[in-house]
Amino acid sequence: MDEKLIEKIKRLKAERKAMILAHNYQPAEIQDLADFCGDSLGLSIKAAETDAQVIVFCGVQFMAETAAILSPERIVLLPDKLAGCPLADMITAEQLSELKQKHPNALVVCYVNSSAEVKAQSDYCCTSSNAVEVVNSIPQDRQIIFVPDQHLGRFVAEKTSRDLVLWPGYCHVHVVITEADIKNAKTKYPDAIVMAHPECTEPVKELSDAILSTSQMLNYAKKSTAKQFIVATEVGMLHPLKKQNPEVEFIPASDRAICPNMKKITLEKVAWSLEDMQYKITVPEEVRIEAKKAIDRMVEILPSKMRKD
Ligand code: 13P
Ligand code: SF4
Repeated sequence: MDEKLIEKIKRLKAERKAMILAHNYQPAEIQDLADFCGDSLGLSIKAAETDAQVIVFCGVQFMAETAAILSPERIVLLPDKLAGCPLADMITAEQLSELKQKHPNALVVCYVNSSAEVKAQSDYCCTSSNAVEVVNSIPQDRQIIFVPDQHLGRFVAEKTSRDLVLWPGYCHVHVVITEADIKNAKTKYPDAIVMAHPECTEPVKELSDAILSTSQMLNYAKKSTAKQFIVATEVGMLHPLKKQNPEVEFIPASDRAICPNMKKITLEKVAWSLEDMQYKITVPEEVRIEAKKAIDRMVEILPSKMRKD
């Protein structure tokens, strides 16, 4: 059944001159079908560089929106329009505007997990893989508002020794991973290396050996000689890790860390999306132009190697 569906998707993909992008948390069969899998940064860069006329974005709303901001001349499709990110929805443009009024001299750094409207009101965008570099690029005497993820924000504040104005947003998937989960896993697998996503809580990160974005986890595991890893992030991440390192054991820190929105994308919906050219993700031009400035400032400070990866 899947084979027939996969054939159909491939045929439609060629007809539409489309490219399929998938986030590292997507269901395994979607990752296996995609032309490119990656973290938020890698996917944004691919979306900006591709020659494809259509991008089928297998991920969540803010990711497809970022692709639409960077590639207005292309059609960006999200196979399930309800695949949102509750973290991104935790701050609205109005709330950010009020926060800016309270700190009129501050610059705003927004995590890519945010709406286009919030990005449009921000000075810099960042992802989990470059948030520290982005904040470090801002002169020391400038106050910084960091939205919406408080846990990534605290990690960045600690790494940069900066006093950031934080917003109390969080990812409901990463906060279910507890300190006890890590302690239990470490007792069971005493030789394992613990990798955690920066959206995890502070006690979880304190018990971890490396704090990494999803694609950084792949690079880290590839370079390491360790044979066991405890993985503190969404469980979809285990698929690319195992695929890349078949001889290594990857243990999820919590089986409960499942992002229901990421799992809304199915093969059937990808086929239908290409067939009916649905759901088109667009951003009003005045919002897009402002949001793109924040993303461009982020890309400018990246080392050129990272921009091309
Ligand atoms: P990455 O950019 O590390 O892939 O993270 C995206 C995300 O949504 C984490 O929950
Ligand atoms: Fe959003 Fe969390 Fe899902 Fe990532 S894992 S898309 S931050 S809800």
